[in-house]
Amino acid sequence: MTNVLSLEKIVKTFPHHKRVFTAVDDVSLRIKEGTVYGLVGESGSGKSTLARCAMQLMRPTSGRTIFEGDDLGKLTPRALRNVRSRMGMVLQNPVASLNPRMTIGASVAEPLRAHTTLKGQALQSKIEDLLDEVGLGAGHAHRLPHQLSGGQCQRVGIARALATSPRLLILDEPTSALDVSVQAQILNLLQDLQQQKGLTYLLISHDLDVVRYLSDEVAVMKSGKIVESGAAERIFTDPQHDYTRTLLEAAPGHKASPAVGSHTLSAPNTQGSN
Ligand SMILES: Nc1ncnc2c1ncn2[C@@H]1O[C@H](COP(=O)(O)OP(=O)(O)O)[C@@H](O)[C@H]1O
Ligand SMILES: [Mg+2]
Repeated sequence: MTNVLSLEKIVKTFPHHKRVFTAVDDVSLRIKEGTVYGLVGESGSGKSTLARCAMQLMRPTSGRTIFEGDDLGKLTPRALRNVRSRMGMVLQNPVASLNPRMTIGASVAEPLRAHTTLKGQALQSKIEDLLDEVGLGAGHAHRLPHQLSGGQCQRVGIARALATSPRLLILDEPTSALDVSVQAQILNLLQDLQQQKGLTYLLISHDLDVVRYLSDEVAVMKSGKIVESGAAERIFTDPQHDYTRTLLEAAPGHKASPAVGSHTLSAPNTQGSN
C-alpha cells in the first residue's frame, strides 16, 4: 500500500518569553492509502500544530511533509493551493467555522468555485449531491448556520471538506464540540464515507473512544512527541508506554476510573485551544 501522507521529523517551535517552546518535537508518521490513522493525546500535546504543519497552514521549523509524492515545503504558493484542494480539513467547532451570514449552499459552493469550473445548474446539483452525501436534504441549502444544530453544521463542514474530492481528510477533533449522542452519528457518517470512497483519514482527538472507533493505526502524542504508535488494537489491548496506560486508565469505562459522567479525558494542563 502506498503512503498518502508522510511526515518526516517535523519540528515546530514558537517564541516564548525570549526562549523557544517546542510544540512539535521530531514527529514522523506515515499514513497508508485507504486507512484511518488516529492521533491521540491530551490537550496541549501538539496535535493541532502538527495538523497545521501537515496542511502547510504553518511552515514547520524543520522536517518534511510528503503528500501524494510531493514535498510540500518545496512547492510554490500556487502549486500548494492546488495540492491543498486534494486535502480536506474538518475542524472542531462546526458553527464557528461557517460564515454566519452565508447560506449553507453558498458555504458549500465556496470551495467548488475556488477549485472547479462548475457553474449554474451543474454547481447547484453538485451542492445538492454533497448535502445528500452528508445526510442533509437539499432544502438545507437555503438556510443559515444558526438555523442548524451543531451536528448539522458539522455535516456542512464535512460537505465542504469533500467538495473538491480529496483523497485525504484531516479531522481535528471533529466531534469534540458535539453532544455525545450526536458524536456517534457524525462518527458513523465519517466511517461510512471513508469506507464508500476509500478515503484516508488523519483523525485527531483527545478522546480515546473516538480514535479507537475508527482507526487502523494509532499514535499517542505527549508534549510534542509520539511516545507510542502501532496497530490500533495492539495499542488499546497491550499498551507499551506508561503514558498510554495512564490515558487508558483515565478513560471512561475503564475499571479503575470512577464514573464521572464525563465522556472525555480530563486535560490537566490545557493551554492551547483545540
Ligand atoms: N501560534 C502559536 N503560538 C504559540 N504557541 C502555540 C501556538 N499554537 C500552539 N501553541 C502552543 O503549542 C502547544 C500545542 O498546542 P496544540 O497543537 O493546539 O495542542 P493540541 O491540539 O494537542 O491541544 C500548546 O502549548 C500551545 O499553547
Ligand atoms: Mg487541538
